[in-house]
Amino acid sequence: PETGSLSIIVLGASGDLAKKKTFPALFNLYRQGFLPPDEVHIFGYARTKISDDDLRNRIRGYLVNDASPLEDVSKFLQLIKYVSGSYDAAEGFQLLDKEIEKHEISKSSREGSSRRLFYLALPPSVYPSVCRMIRKYCMSKSDLGGWTRIVVEKPFGKDLDSAEQLSSQIGELFDEPQIYRIDHYLGKELVQNLLVLRFANRFFLPLWNRDNIDNVQIVFREDFGTEGRGGYFDEYGIIRDIIQNHLLQVLCLVAMEKPVSLKPEHIRDEKVKVLQSVLPIKDEEVVLGQYEGYRDDPTVPDHSNTPTFATVILRIHNERWEGVPFILKAGKALNSRKAEIRVQFKDVPGDIFKCQKQGRNEFVIRLQPSEAMYMKLTVKQPGLEMSTVQSELDLSYRQRYQGVTIPEAYERLILDTIRGDQQHFVRRDELKAAWEIFTPLLHRIDNGEMKPIPYQTGSRGPAEADELSAKAGYVQTHGY
Ligand code: BG6
Repeated sequence: PETGSLSIIVLGASGDLAKKKTFPALFNLYRQGFLPPDEVHIFGYARTKISDDDLRNRIRGYLVNDASPLEDVSKFLQLIKYVSGSYDAAEGFQLLDKEIEKHEISKSSREGSSRRLFYLALPPSVYPSVCRMIRKYCMSKSDLGGWTRIVVEKPFGKDLDSAEQLSSQIGELFDEPQIYRIDHYLGKELVQNLLVLRFANRFFLPLWNRDNIDNVQIVFREDFGTEGRGGYFDEYGIIRDIIQNHLLQVLCLVAMEKPVSLKPEHIRDEKVKVLQSVLPIKDEEVVLGQYEGYRDDPTVPDHSNTPTFATVILRIHNERWEGVPFILKAGKALNSRKAEIRVQFKDVPGDIFKCQKQGRNEFVIRLQPSEAMYMKLTVKQPGLEMSTVQSELDLSYRQRYQGVTIPEAYERLILDTIRGDQQHFVRRDELKAAWEIFTPLLHRIDNGEMKPIPYQTGSRGPAEADELSAKAGYVQTHGY
């Protein structure tokens, strides 16, 4: 591992993302020894003029919990320094550079290296100017060795053109190996498990194709609405917020071919191929919804056409998946909070037990809550009669891996950025291909050509969505 000075600079330090996700993730890494205090310094940067202690006090509440002793919290907070400045003027960034350098000189005398990680917990509208400023004033000092990396969060644009424009602006300033585009679903334990599951198990290899699989569902449900984020959400909608990124990334890992090796470029090459094989979305394979009460949010326009729910069927035009619908479903203000992948197998040919009506074989990967994988299968009902029943082979992580803490997505991903591993980050061509799939549909929605169907808060979403899944071949075996 590299040693020497490591500076982590969180831009947008007093914003929601930084407080709720970035700093807590850094704290967890610190507690596990990944951020040694003799090498690491953390800088918060934002416009507000506050002191180091003000920032520390704002963050403190998000770190304290039963598992984190107050002493650790205080020690961690002491690593954080605050610098204030604007996002588009030299002054603040020059000051920031000076502060980082001071720290580098004090810490790197032993080894000498200047590693600088800039985490942009900011709206994308300021990415180009912030990147320009970093490029001009804050790059790592090459005479010391080391690197400069930047971490950015979605939304990366609103459609193909705007995303490409953003990519070009950043791409003129930083090379692809320096840019880490976070999709936090790629940091979830069971998403990271997909490659292992598929390519390290003989069980799945011969079955994972159109001959055996009838349909695949990738579902995201939340049991709360936009809650204070109405202004942001209304501009984006559920397809840009969840489907175009999180669910599509999951789809890639479910559908991709085996990569040549585990090298990040090999894996991402295969993901891009899947995206490029997706056929244009058909209007009749889309159901949009909007929960009743969504427009009551004062930051949402009275006549908003923004979907808070969508079911979209994607079809992959290749040898493995031709004819298999990938049903992507996401919604807010539904009846439960859950994210899962449901691979449904075809009926058994020549069914001598007449058991098909009890349900098909299904392999379910529950990403959250309570990570689990289970196979729904038909067994003999225990007892004297020869009758069949649907049961489950169940691997629930909480039971199987008692005492093992599953890391938070952000924690893992930040560690990857420090280690320079881009496997779980979205490459530029991948992002482009993802926007290509959804842009025509998004434009039709933006133009008011497609309207969301109202649904009740706390429901399953519009009934039309279930009808669409059924039409695509999904056979529901239990109510969830
Ligand atoms: C974010 C979306 O990317 O993911 C939010 O912007 C959503 O709208 C969140 O609530 C869900 O993340 P998780 O990890 O709680 O499933």
